[in-house]
Amino acid sequence: MRKPLIAGNWKMNGSLALVEQFGRALADARLSSSVEVAVIPPSPYLAAAQAAFDGTTVVLGAQTVNPEAAGAYTGEVSAPMLAEFGVHYVLVGHSERRSLYQEDDMAVLARARAALEAGLMPILCVGETLDERDAGRTEVVVLQQVKAVFDALDARQRRRLVIAYEPVWAIGTGRTATPEQAQAVHAAIRACLVAYDEKLAASSRLIYGGSMKRENAAELLAQPDIDGGLIGGASLKVDDFIAICQSAG
Ligand code: G3P
Repeated sequence: MRKPLIAGNWKMNGSLALVEQFGRALADARLSSSVEVAVIPPSPYLAAAQAAFDGTTVVLGAQTVNPEAAGAYTGEVSAPMLAEFGVHYVLVGHSERRSLYQEDDMAVLARARAALEAGLMPILCVGETLDERDAGRTEVVVLQQVKAVFDALDARQRRRLVIAYEPVWAIGTGRTATPEQAQAVHAAIRACLVAYDEKLAASSRLIYGGSMKRENAAELLAQPDIDGGLIGGASLKVDDFIAICQSAG
């Protein structure tokens, strides 16, 4: 019932050459239609990526969005602009945005709303720090981040979100959550969604991020509440990324 989503977040990495390499390789890979694959390059590469993935089933994502549709916001990119380049998904609340750019839950909500208004699908990223995990606060922190957005949306909007659980201590560290640790948090998020609507809980895709790679993807993706992956470092190597996509299908 839930189609797995494998999304590659390039962060501030990549080049035009890498976009073109991915375009060729993903077209040749003939990815299974039972998995949805998204590539999320830096914004300047969106036009090239749109062309490179034309004719493939790969969809495009953006790494952030400004809450306003237009205006005097030097350096920012709006949701209607992303939509013009065929963008389908937008990350909101990534821990790097939360910590490096002080985006709090209200800022995350504003970005999710802007994305929804432009017809895009937000991927809401949530996750606890190591201190929070060690203090036994993982569920409280993660569910608070989920509720801050879900409480403010209506039923139709909630159905358009994907949630990415990314424990901060696992991002870019090579230290992956164990399948059991990840599954436990995903199950808690799904249980929290039941409070809004059982159908929403059953149909929402909850994906895992944090040092997911070709060696550990299959085990993580085999967990009942893990519906895909948000891949950072391993999404920059085309063979690794394709291998992860294949282990989801
Ligand atoms: O958004 C993806 C992410 O933060 C995970 O990064 O490098 O640990 O796979 P990485």
